[in-house]
Amino acid sequence: MAMHLTADEEALLDSDNPAVRKAMELLVRLGDIYGADEMVEIASAQASGISYKSIGDPGMEFLEGFAEEGAEVRVQTFANPAGMDIDRWEEMGVSPEFAKKQRRILQALREMGVTLSFTCTPYLAGNLPRRNQHIAWAESSAVSFANSVIGARTNREGGPSALAAAITGRTPKYGLHLPENRTATHRIHVDPSLDTQADFAALGSWTGSIVEDEVPYFTGVEDATTDDLKALGAAMAATGAVALYFVEDITTDETPPIDAETLAFESGDLESEYADLTDTEDTDLVVFGCPHSSVEEIERIADRLEGESIQGDMWVCTSRSNKTWSDRQGYTDTIEAAGGTVLSDTCNVVAPIEEMGYESTATDSAKAATYLPGFGNQRVKFDDKLSLLEEVTE
Ligand code: F3S
Repeated sequence: MAMHLTADEEALLDSDNPAVRKAMELLVRLGDIYGADEMVEIASAQASGISYKSIGDPGMEFLEGFAEEGAEVRVQTFANPAGMDIDRWEEMGVSPEFAKKQRRILQALREMGVTLSFTCTPYLAGNLPRRNQHIAWAESSAVSFANSVIGARTNREGGPSALAAAITGRTPKYGLHLPENRTATHRIHVDPSLDTQADFAALGSWTGSIVEDEVPYFTGVEDATTDDLKALGAAMAATGAVALYFVEDITTDETPPIDAETLAFESGDLESEYADLTDTEDTDLVVFGCPHSSVEEIERIADRLEGESIQGDMWVCTSRSNKTWSDRQGYTDTIEAAGGTVLSDTCNVVAPIEEMGYESTATDSAKAATYLPGFGNQRVKFDDKLSLLEEVTE
């Protein structure tokens, strides 16, 4: 059955503006495919697929053409990380050709009114939805955080559908926009204590590969910081396609599912996850900040590196706004005096690191460890921050 459209939505479908018309047509098609009855208005959007490395010339030309046709966002729309730090790309080792194309993408997004935030943690950088608010976000780790920790409602949008939602201010009401789909399918009891952010990432990596796109409910987790939860969700969204999870007494007042399949995460699973995510001990780049680092994470790294000297290269990736606070606090100076680099706007997965001569990366992110072999041609070492910092300062 075709979706019911309001008079305003019918008008968007008949708009004189070709970009608006195309955006609405795409959303109607999506809604029909997923059996949505109607559209829902959204409070914000988040556009992904804006690194030149990810979309190449065809994607760049599509965005430029769309902007030229009059595409303009109607709701606050943040952009996911780009392929380079917009200011420090030369220092990173990005080629001028790549930088030129990335700037063309930036210009197209600017013309559409997209906030040039270039971060995967919009919720830490000025785009914070509220509980039960409908949004259309595309970055999978941010989708997971928004649904699970904040309680907002978004599906895992693709780059085009998030942009279409931004331009029309709407998205089809299906999937996680509907309360009946926001219930747990698996109950996972976590036996070992999770002592580091990397432990949470390892739990996420294990869980995502088992539950795939379903909804886990964790019990046995005693405490978790915001950074732990962002690492957990990012990992589950990478090894699986988890867009919503619950942690008893931490993320939600939801009661544990009664009939759901119950699984146990044991100490041995935690250990083997570290081993499974690692295929080298020798690395030429250490990267923190996947998802983008909070100021607290940067502070911890700076505290550990005070007066130290790093062997090899180290990147700390964060949002532009968190970089500003880190500059003011002196954290950036401390990290860079030790030999590291604090980068904004980008990350080691969407930057062209394989073209910069890097062959192996150390990370405390299970998401980065999952994507880097295929997307960056890297061998990977996965470990927690302090252990990796210990190694690079030995
Ligand atoms: Fe963000 Fe890049 Fe990781 S977009 S979640 S830092 S792969």
